[in-house]
Amino acid sequence: MSEDETGAEPGTASHDPARPERLLESMTTGWAERTEELPAPAAGAPYRAERRRRLAARFPGEWLVVPTGGYKVRANDTEYRFRPGTEFAHLVGSHQPDAVLVVDPQGDAVLYQAPTMDRSTPAFFTDRMYGELWVGPRPSLASTSALLGVETRPLDDLEALKGTAARVVRGYDARVEELFPSDEEADRELVTWLSELRLVKDAHEVAQLQEAVDSTVTGFEDVVRQLDAAKATSERWIEGVFGLRARVEGNDVGYGSICAAGSHACTLHWTDNDGPVRDGELVLLDMGVEGHELYTADVTRTLPVSGTFSDRQRQVYDLVFAAQEAALAACRPGAGFLDPHRAAMRVLAHGLVELGVLADADDAEASLAEDDQRYRRWTLHGVSHMLGIDVHDCAHARDEAYRHGTLEPGHVLTVEPGLYFQPDDLTVPEDLRGIGVRIEDDVVVTEDGCRNLSAALPRDSAGVEAWMASLRER
Ligand code: GLY
Ligand code: MN
Ligand code: MN
Repeated sequence: MSEDETGAEPGTASHDPARPERLLESMTTGWAERTEELPAPAAGAPYRAERRRRLAARFPGEWLVVPTGGYKVRANDTEYRFRPGTEFAHLVGSHQPDAVLVVDPQGDAVLYQAPTMDRSTPAFFTDRMYGELWVGPRPSLASTSALLGVETRPLDDLEALKGTAARVVRGYDARVEELFPSDEEADRELVTWLSELRLVKDAHEVAQLQEAVDSTVTGFEDVVRQLDAAKATSERWIEGVFGLRARVEGNDVGYGSICAAGSHACTLHWTDNDGPVRDGELVLLDMGVEGHELYTADVTRTLPVSGTFSDRQRQVYDLVFAAQEAALAACRPGAGFLDPHRAAMRVLAHGLVELGVLADADDAEASLAEDDQRYRRWTLHGVSHMLGIDVHDCAHARDEAYRHGTLEPGHVLTVEPGLYFQPDDLTVPEDLRGIGVRIEDDVVVTEDGCRNLSAALPRDSAGVEAWMASLRER
C-alpha cells in the first residue's frame, strides 16, 4: 500500500506523494486528547524484577546495558515481524522495538523506550515503520511502567549516557553499541551470566512453558484432523494449520515448523515443507507454539499418515520410543545433563542390531566407544537441549554449567531421540531406507525426577494410532 493514490513525487523510492502545507496543518491538528487508564501490573513483573535485582547484584557498581534490537528488513520497505531480544525479554518483558534496559552502578533499572507519538508533528502519519497512523499507537511510558514495574524514560534520553563505560549485550542494536565504549571480554561475561541466569526456570516461566506446550498440543490435534487436506495439497498445509494455532493462541511459532513427510524426515531441519503427504508413509512433525511472553514449546511426533504404522515403521518407532523412555528415566536432579543422551544412545545402538543395521551386541558396544561412534550415522543429534525463551535456550552458558553440568529442579529441557535412515544409505537394509523417526517431549526437572509438560500427546505407537483415530472420527 502506498500512502496515497494521487500526486506521487516522481523519483522517490517509495513514490510517496507530496504533502502541501495545508495538508500538514490539517493532519497535525484537530485530534482529541488521548486518555488512558493505567494497566494493572503483569503477573510476570515481580519475577522479572527479581532477575534484574540478581543481575545488579552480580555486577555491582557497573553500568549494564541490554538492548532488545529493532526491525529487520525483509525486502525493500517491508520488515520481519519484530521479536524482542531474548535477554531483554527475560529481564523486562516489553515488546517495543529499540527499547533498552540500563542498570546503573547503584543497581537501579531504567527502561528507555520510544514514547507515544506527538501528533503535532507529521511523523505520526509520514513514517511508515513507526508512525502510529501506519502501525497503531504505542503504549505510553506511564502505561509501560505500570504494566512492567520498571521506571521508564524516553529513548532519546539514552544519548545522555554516551561515553559511559558499560557492559553491553551486543548483536542487537548497533546504535546502542556505539554509545558505550565497552570491552569484548566484559560483554561476553555479561551474556554468559545472563544465559546461565535462564537455566533454572521460576514458577512463572514453567507456567508460561506449559501454556505454550498446551497450545502446541492443540495445534498437533488440528493437524491430525486436517491430514486429508494435507494429502490433497502438501506439507505446507500442515505448516499453515499449525501456524494458525500459533498466531491465534500465542505470539508465533518458536522456530520454523518442520513438516517432513516420507524421506524428508531424514533431513533434520526440513522447513521447505513443499513435499507430498502420502498414505503408507510417516510424517515427522517438529513444531512449537511460542507464547505471548515468548517461551516456546518444541515438540515432535512422527505419525503414520494412514493412521496405522506398517510393521517395519512400528519396529523403528518402538525402538525410538524405548530410547526416549530410557532418557526420560535419566532426567532427575543430580544426573549429568548428558546422562539422558547416553541412556538413549545405548538403547538405540543395541536396537540397531535387531533392525539389521549393526552386526551383533559386541558390534553395538564397539560402536558406542568414544573412538568409534558409528551409531551416530543414524542418530545424528543430541537428545536434549535447554528450552525457554529461545528454543535452544541458554546457548551462551559455559560448558560446565550446561553440557557438562548437573540437572537441577527447574531446568526445562527437551528429550528427543531419533533414528534416520537416509533414502540412499547403502549400509542399511533396503526397507529401512527413507524412514526417519523422532519423538520429542519437553520436561521440567522436579525434586525427584521430571514432569513431562507435553504428556497430553501420546508417545507410544499404539497410543498414537488410537489418538489419531479418535481425532479423525470426531
Ligand atoms: N526444533 C529444533 C529442535 O528440536 O532442536
Ligand atoms: Mn524440535
Ligand atoms: Mn528440540
